Amino acid sequence: MTPYAIFIHISLTFFITVNGQITCPVCTDPYNPDSCTGTQQCHSHDVCELHVHLSDRNRVNYICHNSHACVNQQTHACNPYTHDTCTFCCNSLQSCATERQDLFTTRFTAAMSTLQPTSFVPTTAPTINATTASMCIRCDSNPCNENLIPSLQPIQCPSTQPYCYTDVVQDAAGRSVYKGCANESFCRTKYWDYSAVSVACSRYPYSSSAYLECTFCCLGEGCNRADRPPQYTLVNF
Ligand SMILES: *[C@@H]1O[C@H](CO)[C@@H](O)[C@H](O)[C@H]1NC(C)=O
Ligand SMILES: *[C@@H]1O[C@H](CO)[C@@H](O)[C@H](O)[C@H]1NC(C)=O
Repeated sequence: MTPYAIFIHISLTFFITVNGQITCPVCTDPYNPDSCTGTQQCHSHDVCELHVHLSDRNRVNYICHNSHACVNQQTHACNPYTHDTCTFCCNSLQSCATERQDLFTTRFTAAMSTLQPTSFVPTTAPTINATTASMCIRCDSNPCNENLIPSLQPIQCPSTQPYCYTDVVQDAAGRSVYKGCANESFCRTKYWDYSAVSVACSRYPYSSSAYLECTFCCLGEGCNRADRPPQYTLVNF
């Protein structure tokens, strides 16, 4: 067996709940799976979904997630050499603990030791209350004229879009850069759930030949002027 072949043997599990809620773990230290001793209540149609962010030093967190959605995602297997994030489902504190034990003592450790940590997500992120909008760099043209970015003045964003974002797209047509104001759902989807855990986006400057899209969201006046905002301005959800 190749080192990662075992990862595709994740079994489909069918979850049964008898009352209105299930109890799922909460990890108090996202970089320590032994710290997942807190609890949260989830709906009976949910399961506990464990996210292991491989490209961020195996950061772990549990969310309540619809059981079908979780199982579907889990069956995409987990190849630590190609995945940024792996997903696992469980439905009780005990079964989650057993699963973690299995993952972090046997299945993960061998494969993980060959991965380079590429973390750039701030572990002490700004706890800025994003109820007041930022002053962000916004390009007049779409995509930005990159020559003009250094001379652009930050512009007040609407309160519905309190974050600044910067987005770099590289494809066969070349490189395009977008900058402006963003709402939380945009930042959660494009930055936090995707770019923040992407190995390709963790390498900066980006390789000029790579096909990629990397989005970063930040808070603070003009924080999105550079394609990679300063670390201390990056948003943490
Ligand atoms: C953010 O500010 C608003 C308005 O002042 C307040 O109601 C809310 O509780 C604050 N949130 C946090 C997380 O501090
Ligand atoms: C957030 O922004 C995106 C992209 O601009 C937009 O498509 C979406 O409708 C916005 N969502 C909300 C809740 O305003």
